[in-house]
Amino acid sequence: MTGASQWRPAAGWARRRALQAGAALTEARRRPDGLPPRRLRARVGAPGAQEFASGGAAAADALLAAAAEALGERSAALAGVLDFGCGSGRVLGEMIRRGVGEHRVGVDVDAEAIAWAEAHLPGARWLASSANPPLPLVGERFDLIYSVSVFSHLDAVAQDAWLTELAGTLAPGGVALLSVHGATALEAFRSGAVATAWCPPEALRGRGPLAADELWSVPYVHSRWNRGDLPGVGAGYGLSFHGPEYLRAHWGRFLAVEAILPRAISGWQDLVVCRSRPPG
Ligand SMILES: C[S@@+](CC[C@H](N)C(=O)[O-])C[C@H]1O[C@@H](n2cnc3c(N)ncnc32)[C@H](O)[C@@H]1O
Repeated sequence: MTGASQWRPAAGWARRRALQAGAALTEARRRPDGLPPRRLRARVGAPGAQEFASGGAAAADALLAAAAEALGERSAALAGVLDFGCGSGRVLGEMIRRGVGEHRVGVDVDAEAIAWAEAHLPGARWLASSANPPLPLVGERFDLIYSVSVFSHLDAVAQDAWLTELAGTLAPGGVALLSVHGATALEAFRSGAVATAWCPPEALRGRGPLAADELWSVPYVHSRWNRGDLPGVGAGYGLSFHGPEYLRAHWGRFLAVEAILPRAISGWQDLVVCRSRPPG
C-alpha cells in the first residue's frame, strides 16, 4: 500500500523496482531465517520480513480462535486443513509450526510462490491451482478451510465459482473462514488513508459508503509496468468490498454464514465464518 496524490503507473513501477533492488541486495547479505524472498513477500502485501512473520502469526491466531469458537473440541484435532490462496505460506507455515491439522494443503495460482513453499516448508502439500475451479484435489474434504485476503480481491463471478468449489470441499460439520474487505477497509481507501499501486485513487475515492447489501468490485489496472507482479490471477482480480447483508444473503446460497467478525484479520479485513449448508 502506498499513498500517492497523482497516479503514475510507470513512475510507481520504477520506484518500486529501485526499492526492491536495494532491499534485495541488503537481504541477500542477511536473509531472515525461513522466510521467502522479498519479491514473494511483496506479492502478498507484506514485503518487510517482520510484517510478513508477525502478520502471519496474528492471522493464524485469529483463524484458530474463530475455528475454536465454531468447532469447539473438534478444533483441537482437525484432520484436514486447506489454505485457499496460500501464497508462499505466510499463514500455513505458521499452522505447520503450531502442529495444526493432521494433513495440510496450500493452493495458489502463483506457481513460483508454491514452488518456494514446497522447497522450504515441509509439513504441507503445496499445489499450484488455476484462476477458476476445480481445485487439483480428488475427493478430499477438509475440517478447516481458510482463505486470507483472497475473496477481498475476487469479483462476483469468481467468488460464486469458488464458493461453490469450497462448499464441495468442506467436510460435514467443518468450518470455512474467509476474509473480506468490509466497511473499515473501504473507508480507508475512500478517504485516501491507504492506496494501492494497482488502482488509480480516483477509482476508490468519492463514492458513497458501502450499502449493507452491496458487493463493490474494482478491477486492478494491468499494464506492462506491473505484468508479472501477480502471476496467475484471473481477469476480474482487484479490490472487492462486502456489505454484511450481501454476505448473509448471497454467500448464504453456497454456505451457511454463521458470523462476520469485523476487522478480525490485521484489524483490517473482516472474517466470515461459514459452515456447510444443510441439505435441501
Ligand atoms: C493478498 S495475497 C494473500 C496470500 C496469503 N493468503 C496470505 O495471507 O499471505 C492473495 C493470494 O491469492 C492468490 N490468488 C488469487 N486468485 C486466486 C485463485 N483464483 N485461486 C487461488 N489463489 C488465488 C494470489 O496468487 C495471492 O497469493
